[in-house]
Parts: sequence; C-alpha cells; structure tokens
Amino acid sequence: MSTKDARMHQSTLATEAPSFSLDREFVREFCHDVLEVDGQLQSLGDTKNAGVLEHLSCQFRSRFSDTVVDIETQIAHKACGIAVVDVPSVYEDVTDDAIAGALVSIAATSALIKPSKDIENLTPFTMFSASCESSRALRKAGLPDISPTDILDFHSDGLICGKSLGVPRYIAIYNTFINYRKCGFFYWVPTSSIEALPEHLARIGLDDDFTFELTPAVYGETGSKIDRIVERRVRTAIFRKDVDGSIVTFMNGKFTGKDGADADFTWPLKAFQNSIAKNPFRYAVEQRSRRLIILNNSSGFHARDIFEDPVEGHEETRNYLRSVSAEAFHTGHLL
Ligand SMILES: [Fe+2]
Repeated sequence: MSTKDARMHQSTLATEAPSFSLDREFVREFCHDVLEVDGQLQSLGDTKNAGVLEHLSCQFRSRFSDTVVDIETQIAHKACGIAVVDVPSVYEDVTDDAIAGALVSIAATSALIKPSKDIENLTPFTMFSASCESSRALRKAGLPDISPTDILDFHSDGLICGKSLGVPRYIAIYNTFINYRKCGFFYWVPTSSIEALPEHLARIGLDDDFTFELTPAVYGETGSKIDRIVERRVRTAIFRKDVDGSIVTFMNGKFTGKDGADADFTWPLKAFQNSIAKNPFRYAVEQRSRRLIILNNSSGFHARDIFEDPVEGHEETRNYLRSVSAEAFHTGHLL
C-alpha cells in the first residue's frame, strides 16, 4: 500500500483534540504513594480487586482534580467528546516505567468513567498486543482489518452483554507502546458536527432491524497462535434518541441487510459512512506511546491511520489497553 493510500484519512482538515499532560512530579508522587506497596509496584492484575481500583481512582481524582474536571467537561460536551492525556515517564527501569504508565492510565480512566470488567480476566480493561507474527496469523485467518497495519474505517465500538448489544457511553484507549516509526493519527468525528445528519436520520430512521457482522473479536493471541475468533451477527438500530434528545449512533462491522426492505439498503448507509469520512470537521490525535485517548463513543465515530515502518528488533509491535464504560445504550441484540 502506498503512503498516499495509507494516509487517506488525512484528506480533510483536522483540529487538534484537547490534550492534557500530567505533571511529572505529581505522577512521581502518585506512583510512590499509591502504586508502590513496600517499594514494589503493584501489577496490572491487582486492578481486578474492586478495593484496589477504587483506591487508585479516588487518589487520582483528588491529586489531579483540576485536570479531571477539565477532561470531564470536554468528553461530556457533544460538540467535542474527546480528550487526550499524556502520561510522563518516571522510572529508569523500562518495564517498571511501562507498568507504572499503564497503572496511571487505569487510575485516570476509572476516575473519569466507570469501566466494565473484561469478561475473561475481570480486569477493568482488555489488553491487546500485536506482533509481526500475530499480524501474519490474523491475515492468514482472513482477518486483515484488525492488525495494526490495516486501515480502520470510522466506526463506534459496541458492547455485548449476554444477548444484548449496546453502545458504551465512553471508551478509553491507552498505548503502552507502539514500535512503529510512522504512527499516523487517530481521528474523531462528533455526530453533532455532521451537518447532513437530519437527512441521514430521515433516510435511515430509528428502526432496529439492521443486521451487521461485527468486527471479529480475537482471543488468546500468542505469537502465531490464535485461540479463538468470535464472529457475531447482530440486529440493531443505527440511530437512537438519548433522553436529552441528542442522537446516539451505532456503526460497527459489515452491514448485511435490513429486515423487510424491498430494495438494497446499502446505499443510504454508504452515504452516511461517506459523510462521516468526508466531514469537513474532525479531531485528530497523533498516535504515540504513553498516550491515553478518551472518547464519548455514543456521540461520534473514530478511525485511525495504519502504523508503518516497524522498529527492528522488537517482536511485539504494539501493546494497548482498552476500557469500555459500563454505562451503555441498548441498541439491539445478538442473532
Ligand atoms: Fe474502535
């Protein structure tokens, strides 16, 4: 793929997303007072414990109170809905520094949103790691859309609870590390900024009879081995009205049809997807290590550039944590 194709998302002008950097000395104190127990850093797995997570979240809230309030304002605002937090480096030891950075991001995330628990690990986040080998294995399994070198189109993230499908209000993504030289951008289009939204809404409606094949979930990825690929089909609404009258949106995976529609219903959806991708307004965030991105997932769409030019000598190409708020809008159900 050429660089021009790879940077297709940069075709419209982008505004820098509101970003916050945490004071290094404050973070150092936070690590020392809150994350270390008897001089030892806690582990990411310790955050399974509700008491530990509550402690991290409360301490973060009180020590970074002004920043927390500012971020809350940005992510709750329908015209914005995104905030970026950079976590400074504080330990000399690379591993300790990576763990501490991830723990600070978990503390910040749980101070801002109430994260749901990962189904398998019961942690307040899901960890994803990609390697050169796993990318090859995904491609071999016919799943090119989810490896770091593939373009992700604008979408919203879904949350499945039993048979119910919902759109989580917030999601948070923290890049522990990215071993690529060219990381590109992460993009965010708030639904409120799409001018033709009323026309799309009129065409598509608030019905809940659209079927999609969700982007497959990959479990137990180690090296070239993939444990399980879960492919799911859902019946869902694309637009829902929130209690305050604002529009909640769902867009994920491959559209497979609409119940009872006489004609092919692909084009109104394509038109809507095009209008998101070509929207004259969008936020952009440079993708980088130790950066946390928090999104108001229910009121906008996100996408990212592909990662290019891997740094040699690192088998793992990217590691990130993703948290999803427990608060979600029901839009449909599993088929
Ligand atoms: Fe996503």
